[in-house]
Amino acid sequence: MRSAAWHALLPSLVPAKPGIFFLRSRPGRFLSHAHGLRPCGAASSLPPGEYLPPLFSVAPMMDWTDNHYRTLARLISRHAWLYTEMLVAETIVHQKDKLDRFLAFPAEQHPIVLQIGGSNLDNLAKATELASGYAYDEINLNCGCPSGKVAGHGCFGARLMYDPEFVGDAMSAIAANCDVPVSVKCRIGVDDRDSYEELCTFVDKVVSKSPTRHFIIHARKALLSGLSPAENRKVPPLKYEYYYALLRDFPEVHFTLNGGLMTIEQVSASIRQGAHQVMVGRAAYNNPWNMLGHVDSEIYGMPTPCSSRRQILESYQVYGDSIIGQYGISRPNVRQLVKMITWSSGIEGAILCIVFCTLLKFS
Ligand SMILES: Cc1cc2nc3c(=O)[nH]c(=O)nc-3n(C[C@H](O)[C@H](O)[C@H](O)COP(=O)(O)O)c2cc1C
Repeated sequence: MRSAAWHALLPSLVPAKPGIFFLRSRPGRFLSHAHGLRPCGAASSLPPGEYLPPLFSVAPMMDWTDNHYRTLARLISRHAWLYTEMLVAETIVHQKDKLDRFLAFPAEQHPIVLQIGGSNLDNLAKATELASGYAYDEINLNCGCPSGKVAGHGCFGARLMYDPEFVGDAMSAIAANCDVPVSVKCRIGVDDRDSYEELCTFVDKVVSKSPTRHFIIHARKALLSGLSPAENRKVPPLKYEYYYALLRDFPEVHFTLNGGLMTIEQVSASIRQGAHQVMVGRAAYNNPWNMLGHVDSEIYGMPTPCSSRRQILESYQVYGDSIIGQYGISRPNVRQLVKMITWSSGIEGAILCIVFCTLLKFS
C-alpha cells in the first residue's frame, strides 16, 4: 500500500492532537550498525515505525542537511520531518558499490524525505528505484534550485518550472518506481514567469499528469541570471499570499509553506493562519536549539525529547564516536561532524562548541 496516508489524515490533525499516527510502509535497509544513538530524556517517542505527519519539516540544504546534521536534529526533535540534501539522479545511478555512502541513514532519522534533482527521465526513474531499497518516507523533486550549475548547465532545479509538462512526466516516472508519496519543491515562479496564474498552471499540469499531491512552496521566485543562490534566497520578495491562494484553489492538494520563517512563533502563527504544514531551512540549521527544540511541544503537542543542550551533545558524541572514519581515514572527520555546532549563531554557538570539544574523546 502506498503510504500516502498522512495526506488523508491531515485535515483532522491539528497540533496537540497526538493520537493520529502514521505507519512506515515497510522495513527499511539502514546502516547495519546501531550508531550507538541513545534516547535522551522524556518518553516522547511513538511505537517504532510510527510517526506524525509533516506539520514541520527541515528543508533540504546542500552541504548542510547531511547525515550528521540530521542526526543532531533528530536528537532535538523526534517529530520534525527531515529532508536530505539534494542528490542528483546521475550521482545515484553511477554509483556501483558506494550507494550506501549517499543513501543510507540511521533508522532513528525517520521520518525522512529524499530530495533528488535531475532532468533525464530514465535517470530519475532509475535513481528512484535504487533509492527505494533504503525506505525513505517520501521522494521529492527539486524544482527550486537557481544555482548556475543546476538550473543553468544542468537544466534542472528551478529551470524545470519552465516546463510543467516535463515535471508531470518526471513525477509520474518517480512515482512508478517507488511505493511512497512523491512531492515537488518549487518556487512561486521563475524570472518573468511569476504570475499567480502561471504558478497555478504549473501545479495543475503536475497534478493532472502524475500522482503528486504535495508541493513545498518556497514563497519567492527565482531569478536564473544575475543573482547568486544566496541572493536568490533573500532578494526576490516573499509572497505568502500566493501560498494561501493555492490552498484555496487546490483543495485536494497539500502545500507546505517555506521561506523566511525565523522563529517558532512564526511557524505556529502560519499553521494557525491555515498553512497545512511548514518547512524551515536556515533557522533550523543556524539555531537548532531555539527552533527545533520547540517543535515537538509547540507544533506537535508532544514532550520534548531532551531537556538540555549538554544531553544532546553527549548523545551526539556517542554518534560521532561510532561513525568517525567509517568510510576511510577522515571520512567523516571531526570537522565534518562538528561544523553544524560551530555554525550555530553567536555566543550560543561558541558555548556549544566549547562544551562539545570538552566532551569529544576523538579530537
Ligand atoms: C546552504 C543551503 C543549501 C540549500 N540547498 C537546497 C537543496 O539542496 N534543495 C532545495 O530544494 N533547496 C535548497 N536550499 C533552499 C532551502 O531548502 C529553502 O528553500 C530556503 O533556504 C528557504 O527557506 P528558509 O528561509 O527557511 O531558509 C538551500 C538553502 C541553503 C541555505
